[in-house]
Amino acid sequence: MENIKKFQEFLDASVSSYHAIANLAAMLEEAEYTRLYEQESWELVPGGKYYLIRGGTALIAFRIPQGLPKGFMMCASHSDRPTFKVKENGEISGAYTKLLVERYGGMLIAPWLDRPLSIAGRVMVETEEGVRSKLVDIDRDLLMIPNVAIHMNRAANEGYKWNPAVDTLPLLGGKDAKGKLNALLEEAAGGKILGHDLFLYIRQKSSVWGVDNEYISGAALDDLECAWGTTRGFLAAGESDAVPVLCVFDNEEVGSSSPEGAASDLLEGVLVRICEALELDIFPLLANSFMVSADNAHALHPNHPELADAANAPVLGGGVVVKFNASQRYCTDGVSAAIFRKLCARADVPVQTYCNRADIAGGSTLGNISLHHVSVPTVDIGLPQLAMHSCYETGAVADLACLEKATAEFFGAVLMTNRDGSITVL
Ligand code: CO
Repeated sequence: MENIKKFQEFLDASVSSYHAIANLAAMLEEAEYTRLYEQESWELVPGGKYYLIRGGTALIAFRIPQGLPKGFMMCASHSDRPTFKVKENGEISGAYTKLLVERYGGMLIAPWLDRPLSIAGRVMVETEEGVRSKLVDIDRDLLMIPNVAIHMNRAANEGYKWNPAVDTLPLLGGKDAKGKLNALLEEAAGGKILGHDLFLYIRQKSSVWGVDNEYISGAALDDLECAWGTTRGFLAAGESDAVPVLCVFDNEEVGSSSPEGAASDLLEGVLVRICEALELDIFPLLANSFMVSADNAHALHPNHPELADAANAPVLGGGVVVKFNASQRYCTDGVSAAIFRKLCARADVPVQTYCNRADIAGGSTLGNISLHHVSVPTVDIGLPQLAMHSCYETGAVADLACLEKATAEFFGAVLMTNRDGSITVL
C-alpha cells in the first residue's frame, strides 16, 4: 500500500506533461543521476548515471555499465494525455466570460463536464537571463464545463454528438472577467507571458477503491502508470553489461511527431552520443538491443465483454499485458513475446495478452513509431485499464507492482543474439 500512496502522490502532482517530467526528474535526482544537456558535449564514465530532458516534456535516463556495454535495454512510455489545450487569446466575454479551448488527443468528452477544472502547463516569460520556461499550475477550482439541462436536451441520454467548438468551452467568470485569467497566469509566472502551452486538468484526486481496495482511479493512468512503473523498475534494476535506457516521450496522443515525440531523433541521438563518448561501434550494440513499448491496454469491460477478443481479454489485477496486432500497430512478434515472457517468468510476474477483436480497429502506440529511427526487436506492453481516454481512468493496484518488477528484471538483463539466430538472455 505504501507503494500505491507514492504513485498517487506522483499522479496527483503530475497535472500536465511538464509536471510529470519534472516529477520523474526529481526521482532521478534523488537517486543521484547527473543531468546532461543536449547543447553541451558529454563525458560519460563507466558506472555513470545520467538523464536529460528535451522541451520539458520528454526524458531519457541511462546508466553506463562498468564493463564493455553489450547492447541497449530500452523502455518507452509517454507523458501526455488527452485533454483540452488553451487557445491563444482564449478569454472571450458576452453574458459570461468563457475560455476558448481545443481538443488535444482523442478523449471521451462527457466525463469532462460538470466537474471543477483548472489550468496547468508551461509559460514563457522574459527574465534578465533571457526568455525562460516556467511551470504553471493554478492550484484551485477555476473552471467548469456545464451540461445543458435535461429539460433543454431531452435526447441527452440517447447519445449526444458533442461539438468541440460549442459544447466544451469552460465557464471562467462573469461578463467583466475577461483578462483576469491572464493576470492570474502572469502572477503565477512572475512576468509578462510571451508564449504558452497550457492545458485543462480535473481537480479530482486519485482514489483507491473497491470492496478489497483493489482498484485505482485517477487522471492520466494512460500513460503515467507506465511512466512511473518503468522509472521505478529502472531505478530498482541490478547492474548488468547492457545500457538500460528509460524513455518518456510526449505527444503520443497526437501522433508523436514533435521534437519530444517518439518519432523524433531524440532516442537515436542519445544512443549515438553514448557510443561516441565511449568510442564504441553502435551497430553490434543495436543488434543485441531490445525495446519495451509501455502504454496501457484495454481491460475486459465488466458491462461489455462482447467488445473484447474471445481469448485475449486481460482483466484488471491480472498482471502485465502483452499486446499483439498483425498489422504491426503493436510490434510484438514471436521473438519479442518470448523474450518478454521469459523475463516476466523470472520476475514471477503474471502475463496477460491483448488483441483487438478482428472487426474492431484498435489504437496505436509508441513502439512502431520509435522503430523508424531505432529498429530493434520490440514488445508492446501495458497495464490493463478501463475507460481509456476518460479524464478519470481506472486500473488495478496490484498491476502497478507487476510492471515495476517486470521492468526491473528487464533493465537488469542482457541479450546476446547468436549466429544460429538463438537469443541468450542473461
Ligand atoms: Co497511451
